[in-house]
Amino acid sequence: MSVLVRPETPEDEAAVAAVVTAAFTAAGAEPGPEAAFVRELRREPGAYLGRYSLVAVDAGDVVGHVLASRISVGGAPALALAPVSVHPLHQSGGVGRQLVERVLAEATAAGETLVLVLGDPAFYSRFRFEPASEVGITGPYAGAEFMARRLAADAPVGEAVYSPVFARLEQGQL
Ligand SMILES: CC(C)(COP(=O)(O)OP(=O)(O)OC[C@H]1O[C@@H](n2cnc3c(N)ncnc32)[C@H](O)[C@@H]1OP(=O)(O)O)[C@@H](O)C(=O)NCCC(=O)NCCS
Repeated sequence: MSVLVRPETPEDEAAVAAVVTAAFTAAGAEPGPEAAFVRELRREPGAYLGRYSLVAVDAGDVVGHVLASRISVGGAPALALAPVSVHPLHQSGGVGRQLVERVLAEATAAGETLVLVLGDPAFYSRFRFEPASEVGITGPYAGAEFMARRLAADAPVGEAVYSPVFARLEQGQL
């Protein structure tokens, strides 16, 4: 399935929230906090970077969204990829792949050197994410799901420091 991928605009915010909620909420369950997470990150001047908040549009409808926000690693700028959302009716059609590939391309073009993610290695390894611990990165997360994608040979190493919005999500405060 080929979709148009473009930066989000203010007019997309409600549709993005709906897609994020639909992607992360199992059928019949209460909506999760992920849409609030996106909303709060948008309000973080130091974290939110509009060029890395992308929507996938199919026939005029927002069917997917990806966000990469500013973090630091070893005191140097890096990006955190979170969340990636594809509406359940459009999953498994390549939309998630297009969103991740596009945000990595945008980051590379802008001279970014490192992107971190917390996610399923089965999905992210195809984009050449590798375990963060194996490339010298520590932080608030650990384990195989904490992964890094180096975009340049001089990608930073050291401790990853995230926006407080991430901790609020982890602690159930959103
Ligand atoms: C994960 C998600 C973004 C993937 O989007 P998608 O459009 O369904 O993915 P694609 O069709 O591009 O899939 C690409 C590949 O990843 C695989 N894949 C999809 N979701 C996966 C998952 N959760 N775990 C492992 N592999 C996955 C697909 O099988 C496909 O493999 P293939 O190319 O060998 O057929 C989407 O399923 C989603 O929104 N899930 C709920 C929210 C979520 O968990 N987001 C990720 C964490 S931030």
